[in-house]
Formats: sequence, C-alpha cells, structure tokens
Amino acid sequence: GTKLIIDTDPGVDDAFAIALAAVSTDVELLGVTTVFGNVPLATTTANARRLLQLCDRTDVPVAAGASRPLVYQAARRASGVHGSDGLSGQAGSLPEATRPLEERDAVSLLVSLLEAADEPVTIAPIGPLTNIAALLAAHPGVRSKIARIVLMGGGVARGNSTAVSEFNIWADPEAARRVLAEDDVPCVMVPLDLTHQCAVDGAWLAKVAASGSLGRTLEAFTSEYRAHYRQVLGYDGIVMHDAVAVAEAIHPGLLRTESFPVTVDTSAGPARGMTLVDRRAVPVEAAGRPVDVAVDTDVDKLRDFVLSRLAGGR
Ligand code: BDR
Ligand code: CA
Repeated sequence: GTKLIIDTDPGVDDAFAIALAAVSTDVELLGVTTVFGNVPLATTTANARRLLQLCDRTDVPVAAGASRPLVYQAARRASGVHGSDGLSGQAGSLPEATRPLEERDAVSLLVSLLEAADEPVTIAPIGPLTNIAALLAAHPGVRSKIARIVLMGGGVARGNSTAVSEFNIWADPEAARRVLAEDDVPCVMVPLDLTHQCAVDGAWLAKVAASGSLGRTLEAFTSEYRAHYRQVLGYDGIVMHDAVAVAEAIHPGLLRTESFPVTVDTSAGPARGMTLVDRRAVPVEAAGRPVDVAVDTDVDKLRDFVLSRLAGGR
C-alpha cells in the first residue's frame, strides 16, 4: 500500500482526515507531524496524538514542528471555526496518548522516515506549509523520496480567510510559495473549490455517528464547526476539506486533476496569500510552475469512500 505521512493542525476536518488514514488498511501511515494553524502548536500536537490513540495507532510516531510562520507575521488562528481546543470544545472526550511525543522535531522525523523508506512516500500537508517548506529548504536530497505531495490548500476562484486567500496558505504564504515552486516534486493541490463540492450534510454526518464509536466521536467534534458551516453553506452540514485531500492521497485518482501553473501572492497587499492558478490555454509568462489542481470528482463516490472507511474502523 501507499506509504503516507500527514502534516497537520487538528482541527475538526484534520481529525476526519487522520482517522481516515489511521483506519485504512491499504495505506501505511509512517508518521504524523504537527504544525501551528487552527489552534496553537501545543494543542494541535496533543490533538494529533490523542486522535491516533483513539484509532489504536500507537505505532505511529508524532513529532511537533513549527509554532509560527517562516517570516513576518504572528501565527494566525481559526479557533473561531474549530473551537479553542480545535475540536469544537470536545477534545476532552479523547483518550490520553500513551505513546510519547517524539523528542526530535517534525523536520527531523520527516527526514528519517523518508530516508528509511524503501519506496517513495506520499506527504499530505493539511495545515500551513511551514514544516514542508523547512524540510525542502534544509534537506533537498529527500525530494527523490517523495512520491507526491497532496496538499489541502488554496482556491481557484475564492478564499475563506480573505476574499482570495485560503487559510492554510494565508497562515504562511511564504512557505506555501516555496513548496509550490518545488519543480522536482509532483504536487496535487486540493483547493477550496473542490472541497466545497464535496460538502456533506446532516444526514451524512448522522450516518457517520451511527457507524460505530469512532464515527460517534468524530461527529461530536463537528458541533461548533458545523455552526460555522451552516452559515457558510446555508444548510446543516460541513466541508471536510482535509479528508478530501487525504482520500486522494490514499486512493490516487479519486479526484480529477488538471495541470496549471500556480504560485502564491506574498505581497503585503489585499491579495496576500492568494493562489494564482493560471487557467489560460496558453499560459505565456506564467508566474508559477505546473501543479496538478484537483478540479472535480465523483462526489457521491468520495463521500461513500470516507463513510465506509470510517465505519469499518470500529
Ligand atoms: C483548511 O483550513 C483549516 O481551518 C482546515 O483544517 C483546513 O485544513 C481549510 O481552509
Ligand atoms: Ca487543517
């Protein structure tokens, strides 16, 4: 099966994504690295460890990474969306983690997992790209060990943190620009436009809750998040952004992609953090390098894939 490392900032949709990978028997989850993002690093790290405990995956090492962006700004948060504990105030329902946090940091764990792997590894960044930018900058030799980067981030025609900027890019635009400029590493970008196509409603969440103890716990994490998305979507439901990207990482080809030059605006102006996706037929003077942008999918199949995996977990 696919060898996978998830870099994450849990986060309600990160929790769905981690659980999806953790219970999938056809993927080898080598490790999880954490980053600041939805909530501060200490909280994302605790959540990641405890989510793996919930899934009985104490074999998976967790290492903590960046607590702030590469340059400029203080860390941004999305605690208004995910709750101050990152899990809609429900993190307390998770078991304590028995496996100790790695003493080494996220970049060190990434390097050692990649170097030790006997075949190229898929990396799924589902938070700000700070750790991945640091990895590629400091250890260019590991690029040949990366099969693909499948990241949740950006938007083609929209943002969420600002009119044009998606949260994972907005939280560290310089890091995102650095990662997207890495021509030697195949990259799939799963943007907001696609994750919103795959939004799930209250009936789907009820099926998750009825599927077993894992599903029940995950569904409970949606409470505050769901209140936010009720306003965004206009109906009872959520967008499970990160789980869509991890589904593609587990099952390559689940999403249909098209190759477009992409870069990130790192100016201080109103377009800061925007992913510029060049959809011209002839992208003359393109500002970015070609990235496989997820554009559509069989939405029902994607939803069934996630539901059936989570249901099989417990
Ligand atoms: C992304 O931002 C975070 O709030 C979510 O976890 C997801 O990774 C969506 O824009
Ligand atoms: Ca996330």
